[in-house]
Amino acid sequence: MTGDTAPPLRQRPLRHVSGLVKEATGALFDVRDLDSPEGGRRSGPAGDGQATFELHWTDAFDWLESAPARSVEAVVTDPPYGLVEYTAHQLEKRANGTGGVWRIPPSFDGCRRSPLPRFTVLTGPEQEQLASFFTRLAERLLPVLVPGAHVFIATNPLVSHLVYGPFLAAGFEKRGEIIRLVQTLRGGDRPKNAESEFDQVTVMPRSGWEPWGLFRKPCEGRVQDNLRRWRTGGLRRISAAEPFRDVIDAPPARGRERTIAPHPSLKPQRLMRQLVHAALPLGEGTILDPFMGSGSTIAAAAACGLSSIGLEANEEYFELALNAVPLLAELPTNGGTGGSR
Ligand SMILES: C[S@@+](CC[C@H](N)C(=O)[O-])C[C@H]1O[C@@H](n2cnc3c(N)ncnc32)[C@H](O)[C@@H]1O
Repeated sequence: MTGDTAPPLRQRPLRHVSGLVKEATGALFDVRDLDSPEGGRRSGPAGDGQATFELHWTDAFDWLESAPARSVEAVVTDPPYGLVEYTAHQLEKRANGTGGVWRIPPSFDGCRRSPLPRFTVLTGPEQEQLASFFTRLAERLLPVLVPGAHVFIATNPLVSHLVYGPFLAAGFEKRGEIIRLVQTLRGGDRPKNAESEFDQVTVMPRSGWEPWGLFRKPCEGRVQDNLRRWRTGGLRRISAAEPFRDVIDAPPARGRERTIAPHPSLKPQRLMRQLVHAALPLGEGTILDPFMGSGSTIAAAAACGLSSIGLEANEEYFELALNAVPLLAELPTNGGTGGSR
């Protein structure tokens, strides 16, 4: 997806909202409209070190272009991948159950499942478009991040190279990958329309994991120097005895989480709270999610007492996030470890 294919923004002022996070409980309060006369614009954490959050209904690329240099300490994001899956046309097809890039997974256990984006339909030019989307993203993120800032970016095994290459080319360092163990419905099918002829064949492996690329803007000097100056450069440990690990078992969001935030790509709090906790090594600074959808990253940051900024171009999802963030933030985690306060 390029910025041009982002859902069109309506011709009325975009909305910008901010609030404070009550420490210890993660509850949100004092939510204000930044566009109102008394709203005011926040930059950096509130005076007493209290965590804050901002939600912006805006195009991520526009926002990044005008964001101050070296003002963000980490990025945790789940970007749009299908180039076109969030365009109005494709969202309508999804709503009508009439295909497009949204595939209705087989109902093998009697449960109705949500449509999934179909990445194997990407043509060569679409793949080039995807790579240029991530080139643009990486190039615009780099100046906005402080040295040593980490980027956690969700991807999938079919297109991850189209993300990783552009991030490396833009000047980020690859620091590994986080493997989220999750039973997906991708792959595992027999050849289409020849299922009985080739009943011993599967076209692609049934996928049981989701990769998250882990990148870092180069540090200034040693990690310890960067930590002192910028508060970034490393990852926060789960505890004094336990480092952050690169395998996280996190099944899809279900039940209450999904009812609160019915976004087609909702990420579970159990995963997001572990990622945001790791993203700020000293628990200081601001986490940006340029593609927040229903705000699961922002809710996770609030639950962990961390400051964050979420951007969303689609008005419907932005409104969804406004409601969902406080509710998701107050949910207990269902077994997540690091970061689940
Ligand atoms: C994969 S979804 C993220 C869902 C999120 N992980 C959640 O848990 O709700 C990507 C989101 O990016 C939004 N988006 C697409 N292009 C955008 C752009 N240029 N700027 C901001 N948001 C954009 C889409 O509307 C979509 O909601």
